[in-house]
Amino acid sequence: MAEFPFATVTANELSFAERDERYRRLHDWPQPTYRHSSGLRMIWKYEDVREVLEAASAAITPANALEPLVGYPRVAATPRAIPHLVRHLVPLPAKATADLTDRRLHKKVWDTMSGPAGHFRIPAADRPRQAAAMEQHFHAALDELETGTGELDLTALSIAYATRVTGSMVGLPAAEWRRVAVWSGAQSGLLGRRMRGRELAGAVAALGQLFTVSGRAVDHNLRSGTVGFATRLRDAGIPRRVAVSAMANSLAAGVHTVSGTIQQGVQRLLSDPDRIWWDMLAEPDTAGRVAAKMLQLDPGLVAWKRRALRPVTLASGTELPAGPVLVMFAAANRDPAAFPDCLSLRRGGKMPLTFGFGAHTCPGKQCATLAVEVFLHQLHALVPEARLAAGPPDPRPGPDLLFSGARVRLARDRRV
Ligand code: HEM
Repeated sequence: MAEFPFATVTANELSFAERDERYRRLHDWPQPTYRHSSGLRMIWKYEDVREVLEAASAAITPANALEPLVGYPRVAATPRAIPHLVRHLVPLPAKATADLTDRRLHKKVWDTMSGPAGHFRIPAADRPRQAAAMEQHFHAALDELETGTGELDLTALSIAYATRVTGSMVGLPAAEWRRVAVWSGAQSGLLGRRMRGRELAGAVAALGQLFTVSGRAVDHNLRSGTVGFATRLRDAGIPRRVAVSAMANSLAAGVHTVSGTIQQGVQRLLSDPDRIWWDMLAEPDTAGRVAAKMLQLDPGLVAWKRRALRPVTLASGTELPAGPVLVMFAAANRDPAAFPDCLSLRRGGKMPLTFGFGAHTCPGKQCATLAVEVFLHQLHALVPEARLAAGPPDPRPGPDLLFSGARVRLARDRRV
């Protein structure tokens, strides 16, 4: 029997063409679930993914969503990690978002972020102003990076940009933005990579620093009275500890999701010899359609975790044993049963599950969508003739079950 397409590789290690091929084979796989060597049970069919993300049944919980992939016992058994744990993470941070199971408190936090007047919401009338602010972040990130050579490090640019966008949205002082890019990368790795020793300790330190800096930012914003994320959370009656976690979770959530989408998207767009989708970035309207497609096919976050508390039979008949589940929503976004031709811009389908489904749906969805769109449009305006840099392909990032990105360098002139 053929090997399961994601038995030994993750999306993060594949080029977009290899991903297309493996996701296609995944949807031909005869069973609807697969027990991965990490201990997670993988699911990928659209209806199953939506049902498990929604976690409406008491048998499915999001409580494990932010657990390190290697588990807490491994972290506690890593001597180098202990000082960081003690320094930054004792007492343990409050749960505020993805892993919070107190439904009333979660709804309060979520509504403050994404309810009708939520902090991350972008009303239609405010869209041009927000887009202009993101444009400025694009150019500021570019200035920081400018090397004067003919090449552009797209990966670094997209990370600097996403950090600025997310950092400014939650009210993090500009002086911290650069370091947050590093911390959120390490924190993201903790969730989806099998880390050990020094690397694991480094990631715990980064996670701790993210919480420490979030605590300082919340206190600073409350003292100064600047209206923003921190004051909104306070005015909604949310305790400080929970507000600090809401800020740290948002910072961790926003950076590599947005930048990974951009990296993989640009790689796909510039690999097409006819550059049809790339050229559509010239107009804001069509750029929006291309950005939405990139978010469907190659999001920077490809899967999320849930736990089945007991054996569950899903509405489709798929049976899940008790235990942790890897909900592969980027795979579900290509399920032929939901999307007749996922690689076409014309043929629609169901709503992609990139931003989750149900009570925990990503509150940053509108910001993230606009951020990807603005970046791609600005990049095209800056270097319409760009191409992928020549030379040996950049090394692929390592295995990661949740996050996915690409190392991309651009040559500014198509003819070089
Ligand atoms: C392309 C970019 C992004 C993708 C693909 C993405 C995806 C997701 C997904 C799938 C979830 C659901 C988690 C669950 O069901 O438990 C989620 C939750 C979340 N996202 Fe995003 N996200 C993105 C950008 C952002 C940004 C920019 C922010 C910050 C402003 C953000 C903040 C959050 C937070 C705080 C949660 C937890 C929500 C909760 O549990 O109530 N995300 N995101």
